[in-house]
Amino acid sequence: MKIAVLMGGPSSEREISLKSGAAVAAALAGLGHEVMKIDLDEEVVAKLKAFAPDVVFNALHGRPGEDGSVQGLLEILGIPYTGSRVLASAITMDKIMTKRILRQAGLPTPDFLSWTAGQYAAGREEVKKRILKDLGLPVVIKAPTQGSTIGTFIVREEGELTPAIEGALKYDPCFMAEAFLPGPEITAAILGNSDPRVLPLIEIVSHTGFYDYTAKYTPGLSDHIIPPRLPEAVLAAATSLARQAYTLLGCRGFARVDMIVARGQVPQVIEVNSVPGMTATSLVPDAARAAGLDFPALVQKIVDLALE
Ligand code: DAL
Ligand code: MG
Repeated sequence: MKIAVLMGGPSSEREISLKSGAAVAAALAGLGHEVMKIDLDEEVVAKLKAFAPDVVFNALHGRPGEDGSVQGLLEILGIPYTGSRVLASAITMDKIMTKRILRQAGLPTPDFLSWTAGQYAAGREEVKKRILKDLGLPVVIKAPTQGSTIGTFIVREEGELTPAIEGALKYDPCFMAEAFLPGPEITAAILGNSDPRVLPLIEIVSHTGFYDYTAKYTPGLSDHIIPPRLPEAVLAAATSLARQAYTLLGCRGFARVDMIVARGQVPQVIEVNSVPGMTATSLVPDAARAAGLDFPALVQKIVDLALE
């Protein structure tokens, strides 16, 4: 099969995408496919037309690529591609929209507030007072459309609030403040289209105290514990919640649902990643291995789901 692996591009997660793309391309080539790696730029249409792939493996993280834009382009070109379609990609790229939909459907997600840059500029002090009053400290400030913890800040003291908000607004024209819930972070890798399967859950332990960009991508700075050190009933609730969120948001192929387990008891969705990392230290490949799927088998399964 001819498979183009889309990777890189101008996203803030470019470097991670290049790693995911290289790992995916090597696995597909090892399986005997004819593979072309394509670094996303304005020549992408010409490159795709020249290669004429049977399917595109989308290894683009962040914007553009994970957000529905490249999915729309591939729809126009009529080329099948891995992962979610336009709408689910666009929604899950935006943490605020994702949380609004989860809330509306009654699926648990930590309390949050959001403002545009304009609203914040019109009343900085009121915004900060509201965050402190309604969500308290610590609080998490996030740029809603970034990944790999870029533009995310844990604020533990009042004085850190302004730099965190301004930091988030460097990436997006709006920001969100989310309640900081004490409890382990776990994640669910999911594979499938109409009948998605949740792979073994993973508990994430960061040795730096914050599972940020450095802890995510430096070998040895975080541990993946399978299964999480939580009661069976909590694991079952988390598995069910992740599957419901995946279906509700219209995800397809594969995705990763990140959750916090408040006080070790109540799983809540933090975000859904429609093109989760596929690097050597990434979570989805680890979950797949725990389910008996090695990396090449996982990548082939994601391709098969694209063609279903
Ligand atoms: N955004 C990164 C790639 C992830 O979710 O794994
Ligand atoms: Mg993410």
